[in-house]
Amino acid sequence: MSTARSTPNIALIKYWGNRNNDWRLPAADSLSFTLSEPCVDVIATVADSFAVTSTKELSEKDVERFKRHLELMHEYLNTLNLKLPEHLAFHVDSHIPPGIGLASSAAVFSATAIAVAGLLEQELTTEQLSVLARLGSGSAARSVLGGFVTLENTGTDGIDSAVARQVAPVDHWELWDIVIAPSTTHKKVGSTEGHAGAATSPHFVQRLQDIRLRQSNGIEAVLMRDFEKLQTVAEADSLDMHHCMATQQPPLHYLSNETYRIIRELEALRRGQHLPVLYTMDAGPTVHCICEAEAKKTVETFASQQSDCTIFIAKIGSGAERIKG
Ligand code: PMV
Repeated sequence: MSTARSTPNIALIKYWGNRNNDWRLPAADSLSFTLSEPCVDVIATVADSFAVTSTKELSEKDVERFKRHLELMHEYLNTLNLKLPEHLAFHVDSHIPPGIGLASSAAVFSATAIAVAGLLEQELTTEQLSVLARLGSGSAARSVLGGFVTLENTGTDGIDSAVARQVAPVDHWELWDIVIAPSTTHKKVGSTEGHAGAATSPHFVQRLQDIRLRQSNGIEAVLMRDFEKLQTVAEADSLDMHHCMATQQPPLHYLSNETYRIIRELEALRRGQHLPVLYTMDAGPTVHCICEAEAKKTVETFASQQSDCTIFIAKIGSGAERIKG
């Protein structure tokens, strides 16, 4: 038995679209920071047949995704001449509050990867662990590490040709993520399906070209702790990804009127008080307000004034880890 704990991450430069959907090889590099909470624990056990149980309700699709992840982990480990026991069972204990709009898949599949790696006779490198996680969810590769993390293409075509790397450690820069989740539940196409349609957007090729500069500017902003620079690239990239989503076939409209209202008000607050705060949205209407320590109190107050919204607060976290077994 092997147990691991992990948390979500929030992308500053977003991953949208794959060059290989089955292996979840991203079409472009991305940049995120790992959140300190909420966490998910995954227990991997040697079993007679595949099974997955959870403290949250699992759909048939969820179970299929776990199964495919495990098949791909076997495939990858074979390339390293490493063998897993033939059958594994998983138990997922999620502490991610429902309806918060914090994508749990990054936390779940990074915890799964670390738990599975704990059953091997040989220790894997961090890059190899990130490949294992990526095979369940592209963004999960980034949650393997703490602090500021990239998911980078390595220039080849193999199953291991995109890996996560740490750009700066957890204590490099004190940033907070004040998450504002509008309560309206949106009919949502998951990101796995969404990635598969990304290339149908007429904007996709342009996005892939532009993202290179945004990625290097994003990394530079993090290294220099230059909030204004980070704000410019992160907001541009989030809106650019949503433009791509909205123009792909079938179109995906993840942002709601509430999202736009919240970001307009946040911009006004920022202008009025010269606050180091930026917004970014993933595949949902939830607004992540990322701020420096000096703006935290004001942004928290702003968040608490949003009616019918769920609020969640996280700082930068240390990434996935094996906790027992
Ligand atoms: O890892 P996935 O397949 O859930 O894709 C994540 C996609 C975004 O959250 C929208 C962007 C990102 O880089 O996290």
